Amino acid sequence: MKEKQAICFDDILLVPQDSDVQSRHDVDLQMLLGNMMLRLPVISAPMDTVTGVDMAVAMEMQGGLGIVHRYMSEEEQITNILTLEAMNCKTYGVAIPSNNGYLKTAERYYEAGARIFCVDTANGHGTYAVEAIKKLSAMFSNSKVHLMAGNVATGKGFAMLADAGAHSVRVGIGGGSVCTTRSVSGHGVPTLQSIFDVATAKDSLGLGTGVLADGGIRTSGDMVKAFAAGADAVMVGSMLSGTDQSPGDLIHNNDASYKSFRGMASKGAQEDATGGFSVEEGIETLVKYKGSVYPILNQIRGGLGSGCSYSGVNSLSQLSNFAEYVKVSPMAIHETQPQHEVYNGN
Ligand code: XMP
Repeated sequence: MKEKQAICFDDILLVPQDSDVQSRHDVDLQMLLGNMMLRLPVISAPMDTVTGVDMAVAMEMQGGLGIVHRYMSEEEQITNILTLEAMNCKTYGVAIPSNNGYLKTAERYYEAGARIFCVDTANGHGTYAVEAIKKLSAMFSNSKVHLMAGNVATGKGFAMLADAGAHSVRVGIGGGSVCTTRSVSGHGVPTLQSIFDVATAKDSLGLGTGVLADGGIRTSGDMVKAFAAGADAVMVGSMLSGTDQSPGDLIHNNDASYKSFRGMASKGAQEDATGGFSVEEGIETLVKYKGSVYPILNQIRGGLGSGCSYSGVNSLSQLSNFAEYVKVSPMAIHETQPQHEVYNGN
């Protein structure tokens, strides 16, 4: 067996550099993801407790992108698409499978108005996923669509999907906050390491395929590290879960309010989708109700601006060219946290 070293988000910190950025608000955050420009390069994950119509609208309003999950009937998804088109929301995506008549599904969603398709597979580094992207790419060769593929952990996986015609690739295996793939299968690569590897592959390929960091991003600081490593956008589930805009009802328990959050390979999600389940590779949980998603997106925007200003760049697209990192000892995890509990006066 071959050995390779890998670093994860908590293994590094970015080094502050000479900066003439006056305010984090002056930083230009727009990024090109394949053939699509995003004012806020943050994408909400196609999970049934994260992205439905409300989240997709909120993400578009803030300059990001929501990918509506695929765990519903085609008719329900078409109603979602028509609702979004009525609302004049144009930058939204829909997830589709890579099997079970996916070409027909994509055609129907295209006819309803969808232009951004996420071929949503757990392992995108495989024949089925690559074939699906090739066929969709051929089918939409004369149309202006965006094909998002994934997930992969390596430069090789990225190259296969990029060659097949993907406009962007979700990068990250096993890092998701409600994911158990690593313990179930023994496979995975820390998402940050995957971004480093994929960014190198992207440079040598010379294709404009977008790199989307997906899984395990907990803070705007993790996002800044992902962009510094070469990501063009980040995808998040957990950070946006439990909000007014995420699907699902409020659950009240002992004076606190919660919302459901679950991996799409969890037992419950599989049962709801198919009536049965095979291997569980995700968990189901409750997260504390967080209120509106808008303050969360504003905090992310501020954090990305702050990250660029510390690295001395005026635009997020410049960050990976100038950022430097230090490897830190495990004690840094402790030191990075506030050393006091939050006290709000109550
Ligand atoms: P975060 O950490 O932002 O991650 O919540 C979101 C990403 O997690 C992936 N995902 C899963 N991965 N089993 C997995 O192995 C699952 O059940 C599962 N559900 C979601 C997915 O890539 C998502 O964008």
